[in-house]
Amino acid sequence: MNIAVLSDIHSNHTALEACLDSFKNKEIDAYIFLGDYIGEFPCPERTLDKLYALQKEIPCYILRGNKEEYQMRGIGGENPAWDPYPSTIGMIRYGFRHTRETDLTYFEKLPTTMRVEFEGLPALRICHGSPRAVREDIIPGNPVNEEIFAEVEEDYILCGHTHRVVREKEHGKTVLNPGSVGLSLDGSGCAQCMILHGKDGAWEPEYLSIPYDTSKVIEEMKSEKLYEQAPYWTKVTESLLKGGDRSHGVVLSRAMALCEEQTGVCNWPEIPESIWKQAYEEVIF
Ligand SMILES: [Fe+2]
Repeated sequence: MNIAVLSDIHSNHTALEACLDSFKNKEIDAYIFLGDYIGEFPCPERTLDKLYALQKEIPCYILRGNKEEYQMRGIGGENPAWDPYPSTIGMIRYGFRHTRETDLTYFEKLPTTMRVEFEGLPALRICHGSPRAVREDIIPGNPVNEEIFAEVEEDYILCGHTHRVVREKEHGKTVLNPGSVGLSLDGSGCAQCMILHGKDGAWEPEYLSIPYDTSKVIEEMKSEKLYEQAPYWTKVTESLLKGGDRSHGVVLSRAMALCEEQTGVCNWPEIPESIWKQAYEEVIF
């Protein structure tokens, strides 16, 4: 029994394709997708259409991530007061324009956590962030894990969202995070995914780190004008593709702190571009 596990594609359809190619000849029996199909890269329709096609071919267990929830909330819709803040809101607006009615209907039907069972093997609890919250990170050694895991019946927890590979046993639970397909923080610009091998009543993870043509992705980001629509956000994306390890969240947090220091207040998404520039240069260089 071989289960392919993928998380956090963030609309990087080129990275997704590299993962799917690597599964050819590996006798995959089912797929698990842990959420965040859309996000930082061009043409999210391409990622979603691959997902819809795959679902018709093979059993797929598919969860919703926080990125899908942002589009369900419609925060990328017209709000002219936010026009001066493209680095904060531009990518969400781009995603809003590229999310079809059928995609929204699809997102609404997705669960946020699930118990998955295969005959003769331990049951899996799958989630995006944590079993109790889509946006909660599971970080090895975090004292709150004991409380999170106490509510979980299954011995195996599969999670994503942090964009970092995890293989840990804590408080009786085996926690496996495949890292991120599209935007890894510890993958040196490679696409990360995992195959769970089920054998003799146990699961054994195989972590894959797959190089792919990131320059082609950057070219597509340019032709789709992401650098104009979400300038510093997109520069952070590019730095991750080139092997960087500083997330959008880290740069955004610094920008918000600088905004508060310099203007006395910071209401998301109202961060001036000059402050984004300063935060980007501090954090990325
Ligand atoms: Fe996420």
